[in-house]
Amino acid sequence: MPKRFIVGNWKMHKTISQAEVLIRDILALYKPNPAVELAVAPPYVALQAVAHLLAPTPIGLAAQNVCAKDEGAFTGEVSPFMLKDLGCQYVIIGHSERRHLFGENDQIIHEKIHAALHHGLHPIFCIGERLEERESGQTHSVIQHQLETGLFGLKSQDLSLITIAYEPVWAIGTGRAASTEQATEVHTAIRSFITAHWEMNAGAIRILYGGSVTAENAQSLFQSPEINGALVGKACLNSESFVKIAEIAALD
Ligand code: PGA
Repeated sequence: MPKRFIVGNWKMHKTISQAEVLIRDILALYKPNPAVELAVAPPYVALQAVAHLLAPTPIGLAAQNVCAKDEGAFTGEVSPFMLKDLGCQYVIIGHSERRHLFGENDQIIHEKIHAALHHGLHPIFCIGERLEERESGQTHSVIQHQLETGLFGLKSQDLSLITIAYEPVWAIGTGRAASTEQATEVHTAIRSFITAHWEMNAGAIRILYGGSVTAENAQSLFQSPEINGALVGKACLNSESFVKIAEIAALD
């Protein structure tokens, strides 16, 4: 089983000074444990300050988005090369807020995954169905389509650098997390898809669950061997709950 991975997605929260306070609080509470890997994804403007504080620690740094282009006339965009330069190891790609609020389609997400890998950034590739898709029995076909287009053309060695995050849209920010059974079922389907398309051990791929993960429901989620960690939104903005989730992830 891959090492559990907990990623805090700060979304559009925290100024630079607030980000520094949150990181200092996390570092004061968190005792690094080799059984779990931790990363935070602050907003772009706080990345440098956070990178500086995290440099002597084992906590990883992620960006929340990236442009698929290397450089050029792309006003407002940030390239993978720049993120690498800032000290990021990871980048979240295809988050449902990017897909649904900012019009990112599967093709754009596919290009971003390729660009990130090309520059040595590890994508955290988010997929997930909307409520109406789940209710009309389309969860598996939606997930399969997102995987097919996002991962198209990747080799097994590329795939081993990717973390997949299953985030049902209806569970994000709603306080209504998927049940452990619901998440396990989709994670199993994701692994079967990988086994069917790549010659690799799909069991080694990290598949995180995201959507209203809290210190209260983390234990139940991590009981499933299919759930290799969490992409945490709201609960990561509080140092105590974020560290608590990491501690739960470190338990057997
Ligand atoms: P949430 O967000 O934990 O606030 O539901 C998760 C995410 O959007 O990654």
